[in-house]
Amino acid sequence: MKKVILDVDTGVDDALAILYAVNSKQLDILGITAVSGNVPLEQVNINTNRIVKLLGVEDRINVYKGADRPLLKQPYHEFRVHGNDGVGGALDDIAIDFPEHDVFAPDFIIEQAKKHKGELTLIAVGPLTNVALAVRKEPRLAEWLKEVIIMGGLVQSAGRGNTIPTSEFNIYADAEAAKIVFHSGMNITLVSLDVTRQVLLTEEHIEELKGTKYYDFVKQSTVDYRQFSINLYGINGCALHDPLSVGVALDPTFVQTEKYYVDVETQSELSYGQTICDFRNILKKEPNVNICVGVDSERFLQDFLEYLKR
Ligand code: BDR
Ligand code: CA
Repeated sequence: MKKVILDVDTGVDDALAILYAVNSKQLDILGITAVSGNVPLEQVNINTNRIVKLLGVEDRINVYKGADRPLLKQPYHEFRVHGNDGVGGALDDIAIDFPEHDVFAPDFIIEQAKKHKGELTLIAVGPLTNVALAVRKEPRLAEWLKEVIIMGGLVQSAGRGNTIPTSEFNIYADAEAAKIVFHSGMNITLVSLDVTRQVLLTEEHIEELKGTKYYDFVKQSTVDYRQFSINLYGINGCALHDPLSVGVALDPTFVQTEKYYVDVETQSELSYGQTICDFRNILKKEPNVNICVGVDSERFLQDFLEYLKR
């Protein structure tokens, strides 16, 4: 089984990604690391522990807290899409005893990568602060990790960012961290908005889950998210950004990739957090990121639903 660590900023779709990863029973999840992002770190920690409890795996999967703010700039949260608590109030009834694990998330990532050299996949679906801190502290992390699957950025759909026109939330929330990670030498696959926007969990899909353990959670937690999508695109659906990144770990053939040089803009106010792909190799730099150029949405969505129904 593939060994993975999930780095999350739970968030509605992070929660769905965790449900999918755990319920698949196809991944050996060594731990979940939490980072400030959609909501502040403390809330991310609460939401993630509640999801782990909902899944009934609290005895074997620990949540480790990491960065409570970006490397340089002020925290930027996404309450518009994820609601005040990040999960649309859908986990309020789950009591947790706030377990605190005394290892800082970046240190946990380093420790596990060292222990499982060449075997560990890091799935990072929040701002990249934890990953940047880890690789700054231990540059050998880049060679120790088998791969890093990052949900972030947009490359081919210029101007269609979800935070500012040029930029996607995870990269925008800490572009300096993203720049460090992209230049670290890690084997990166970037699951960007170009493909994640093509996988929409619709109301009909959610109804397919009726009678299963996760139906109520999925339905309630996605209400604000789907309303946001209705207002913006006229579609009652929830883009499965983070679950698709887990999907790529489970089955890389869900996406088609090509490798290019990709850099991150950190200077400009107009395009802070833009992921810029040098398709024509004008800069003559070594390709550093596998970008996703296509996705088999239907097959992925069926896989996602199948695992959630189990
Ligand atoms: C990404 O930003 C967050 O709001 C989501 O959880 C996802 O990781 C999409 O841009
Ligand atoms: Ca996320």
